[in-house]
Amino acid sequence: MEEVYSDLISYEVELEEKNSALEEAQRFITSVLSSVSDILVVCDQRGAIQQVNLAFLRLTDIAEVDLLGQPVDDLLAEEVGPLSYWLEAGPGNDREVRFKLRDGGVSEPVALTCATLLDHRGLPAGMVLTGRPVGELRRAYEALKRAQAQLVQQEKMASLGRLIAGVAHELNNPISFIVGNVHVLSKYRERLETYLAAVHGGASAAEREAARGTLRIDAMMDDLPDLIEGTREGAQRVADIVKSLKRLSFSDAGAAQPVPLAELTRKAVQWAVKGRNSASTIVQEIPDDLEALGRAGQIHQVLVNLVENALDAVADLPTGRVEVRGQQTKAMAVIEVADNGSGIAEADLSKVFDPFFTTKPVGQGTGLGLWISYGIVRDHGGMLEAENRPGGGALFRMTLPRD
Ligand SMILES: Nc1ncnc2c1ncn2[C@@H]1O[C@H](COP(=O)(O)OP(=O)(O)OP(=O)(O)O)[C@@H](O)[C@H]1O
Ligand SMILES: [Mg+2]
Repeated sequence: MEEVYSDLISYEVELEEKNSALEEAQRFITSVLSSVSDILVVCDQRGAIQQVNLAFLRLTDIAEVDLLGQPVDDLLAEEVGPLSYWLEAGPGNDREVRFKLRDGGVSEPVALTCATLLDHRGLPAGMVLTGRPVGELRRAYEALKRAQAQLVQQEKMASLGRLIAGVAHELNNPISFIVGNVHVLSKYRERLETYLAAVHGGASAAEREAARGTLRIDAMMDDLPDLIEGTREGAQRVADIVKSLKRLSFSDAGAAQPVPLAELTRKAVQWAVKGRNSASTIVQEIPDDLEALGRAGQIHQVLVNLVENALDAVADLPTGRVEVRGQQTKAMAVIEVADNGSGIAEADLSKVFDPFFTTKPVGQGTGLGLWISYGIVRDHGGMLEAENRPGGGALFRMTLPRD
């Protein structure tokens, strides 16, 4: 008897514990349901309302007791057919409906979604309607659109910043070349002035000869044409870059013309080598008559970029070697720039033409070189490809139409 009694006690304690856990769960669910801003209506299989949440009570302004047990179809302001048919048609599609209000009015449109309610055995036991007033959705959509526009704007600004850095990089090479030449030219001017002063100051022939020697007038005169030509080319290059920048924004491409590739490559290699202390060997094998149809300034830019990259790749090698070779097929001119550096990591092969992709330290690469080059070659109707050479090093192949 005592045993039965103690069993009863422990049973009751257990029951109370379960009950309070249940109440706790109920409170939790209720508070969750009342805090969501979407409306929620649960119906049984005949469409009678079993449960609604606070958002739905607020929308209709009808008391909960007046809603429970009512057919949900009766609450719809317009004839949209029984919601249960809609449910049978399958889940998915939102439906825009309006609900009747307590004061006889009609709610704003609600985008309603209908799902099957399953019982604990997983069998259909009714339906769950969830929805949100369309006006609210529209507002959320507008806010999202604004946020997206802002992001696009920010991304544009960031791209612009990187583009400007790239432009600065492109301009830096010819400008430092011009500045260097002008520096030398001004030194030459001083020497000429000294010499002319001696000549006009009535120096004897012997003195003039001596001054000519010490001032190295002959070597200077030999140097002048190259210096002037180099400066002129540098200025031309700056002008070309500015022009190609204009083309970037207005896509105003000049007419294509036959471009002598051997000469262009020679100049491009000169440009790429200028200003760097490169001990690397550069081999150029371009047939003299190799021609492509295109815009010389742009193709020059591509070649400079490719050779610069190759020189970067071999910069730390004692036996760095860059090979620029040309050949022609029936319709195309092909120029390959290859090096014996460490090549391109397999995972990067697909990325090297992406704008701003660079593996170089900050300040040494913007990752625009190949992107710009790719665009130029593509606009010419050609192709720019990257691969690793079997023996090590990278190879870039530019294919351009010959006519
Ligand atoms: N010859 C090469 N060997 C190995 N990697 C290369 C070679 N050429 C290009 N790459 C890789 O491709 C990346 C992108 O090259 P890209 O010319 O577009 O930009 P960058 O040289 O880094 O910078 P920028 O040309 O704007 O100064 C390089 O950072 C490098 O990782
Ligand atoms: Mg580069």
